[in-house]
Amino acid sequence: MTIDPAAFHEFEHAGWERAAEHYADVFGDVTTHMAAPLLDAVGAGARTRLLDVATGPGFVAAAAAARGAIVTGLDFSPAMIADARRRHHGITFREGDAEALPFDAGSFDAVVMSFGLLHLARPEAAIAEAHRVLRAGGRYALSVWAGPETAVGFGIALKAIEEFGRANVPLPEGPPFFRFSDADEARRTLEHAGFTNVDVRVVPLTWTLASADGVYDALSRGGVRTSAVLRAQTPEALAAIRGAIRRSTERYQQGDRFVLPMPAVLASGTR
Ligand SMILES: C[S@@+](CC[C@H](N)C(=O)[O-])C[C@H]1O[C@@H](n2cnc3c(N)ncnc32)[C@H](O)[C@@H]1O
Repeated sequence: MTIDPAAFHEFEHAGWERAAEHYADVFGDVTTHMAAPLLDAVGAGARTRLLDVATGPGFVAAAAAARGAIVTGLDFSPAMIADARRRHHGITFREGDAEALPFDAGSFDAVVMSFGLLHLARPEAAIAEAHRVLRAGGRYALSVWAGPETAVGFGIALKAIEEFGRANVPLPEGPPFFRFSDADEARRTLEHAGFTNVDVRVVPLTWTLASADGVYDALSRGGVRTSAVLRAQTPEALAAIRGAIRRSTERYQQGDRFVLPMPAVLASGTR
């Protein structure tokens, strides 16, 4: 299948404009835990000039500001930028594309991207842009989800779609969602972009949900690709998928909560 980067970019943009009002509620509890590992990986502290690419609701940007960093959050979705501005005052948020950053070369000491890379039509372009806007010696860190065999929320949803619905629905083709979950691929790509001291490791996040429908709700409202796949199912298939995801989630019940392993891969390097 050939990828039309412009079509995929447009599909993701429209998807994030739609998902923005739900994203923080359904994914915020898990993705906020990535902020500290990412900021530690770039050595963010007082006066660090830091760019948070694909900032979404601005979780990492806010955590960096709390460390005294001088922060800019960037996202291509106006709805996300509006949400980030509502949540965090005193941080600069601006619209822009990760694949063509609106900054001069060498503008930042640190660049981070939390769960953004897997949504990009041209991930290599975004990594090259991060390299360009970093000063020599500056640090880059990004996170993506681990593969569905260990990131349980994705694993149970993909299995349910495969079993009860149609995974192969007509959508603009994008790069493989789990491409950078592979540590070797992440390392190779950062090194190819010119980063040194590349480190790739797994961060054992967990996703705590109040309801066994939490995974379905999150993926159907707060995501893009899986959300589009779900919207393309028949009502009967959708009901079966939802039931299967619920039953799988129930296996992770602890007291009145559902606690799912959602490891992430953290890759970092020096400009
Ligand atoms: C999964 S969310 C991650 C949000 C936040 N960083 C977090 O960790 O929760 C992905 C974000 O990437 C943004 N995004 C996707 N493609 C982008 C692009 N080409 N340029 C800038 N932002 C992009 C989306 O609008 C969305 O806010």
